[in-house]
Amino acid sequence: MKSILEGRPALAAEVNKVAEVAGYLWQKGWAERNGGNITVNVTEYVDDDIKAMPAISEVKQIGTALPHLKGCYFYCKGTQKRMRDLARWPMENGSIIRILDDCASYVIIADSPVMPTSELPSHLSVHNYLIAKGSPYKASVHTHPIELVAMTHCKKFLEKDVASNLLWSMIPETKAFCPRGLGIIPYKLPSSVELAEATIRELDDYDVVMWEKHGVFAVDVDVMAAFDQVDVLNKSALIYIAAKNMGFEPDGMSQEQMKEMTVAFNLPK
Ligand code: 13P
Ligand code: ZN
Repeated sequence: MKSILEGRPALAAEVNKVAEVAGYLWQKGWAERNGGNITVNVTEYVDDDIKAMPAISEVKQIGTALPHLKGCYFYCKGTQKRMRDLARWPMENGSIIRILDDCASYVIIADSPVMPTSELPSHLSVHNYLIAKGSPYKASVHTHPIELVAMTHCKKFLEKDVASNLLWSMIPETKAFCPRGLGIIPYKLPSSVELAEATIRELDDYDVVMWEKHGVFAVDVDVMAAFDQVDVLNKSALIYIAAKNMGFEPDGMSQEQMKEMTVAFNLPK
C-alpha cells in the first residue's frame, strides 16, 4: 500500500521529525510503555489529493467542539502505541486525521486506522486555541520527564512560578530557551476535557505546562522546538538534584543575573 508520505517530502519531513523526537523521549526514559503523545497540525501540507482521500475509520467524536479546526489535518500518535516503535515506524504507530465540518468529530484518512492518542481532547483543544490566537505554533508534545514530574510531588513547587524561578536559576540557557517558564496544572484525570480546558487556560502564559504528578505538555513551532523546551527545563531539574545529592541547596543565579539575561536577550519578562 502506498503511504501518504510518498511524493510529499514536506509532509514526510514533519512526520520524520516526530519519529526523531519519539526516539529521544524513549532514550531519555520519559516514554515508558505507551507514555506520552505528539500531535502536529499538518494542514499546510494538504493537497487536493489528500482532501479527496476517503475516510478509513468511522466518524469519531472529539468530546468537545473546536470551531477553528474545521478542515484541519493532524498527525497523531496512536493510543497505546510506544514511542520507541513510533521512532522507527511513524505511520504504523500514528495516523493522519481530518476534522469534519461539525468541528466536533474526525475521521482517520492515512495510512492505516490507528486510533489517535487518548489525550486527543487536550491536543486538539490546544491546536484550536493556537489557531484562534494566530500563533505560528504547530506541534504539541506530552511526555513524562522523570525529574520534572518528581518535583510536582512537593507542594511548594506547585505554587505559581516557584518551580519556574528555581529552574531558570540553575543555568542561563533555561531562561533563554524556555523564556515563558513552566505553568502548573493541579492534578486532573488523564484524557479528560477538564484537563484540556485547564491546559489551554495555562498556555496563555506558558509554552510548557505541568500536569501535576503526570507529565508536561509543550507547544512550539515544530515538534523539535517543543521537545527542546522540555529538555532544557528537565536539565535544570537534574542540576538541582545533582546539587542536592552533593549535600547542599544550590545557590541559583541571582535575581540580578536573571534580569540581566532577560534584558540582554530581549526575553519575555
Ligand atoms: P496514549 O497511549 O493514549 O497516547 O496515552 C499515553 C499517555 O501518556 C496518557 O497521558
Ligand atoms: Zn501521559
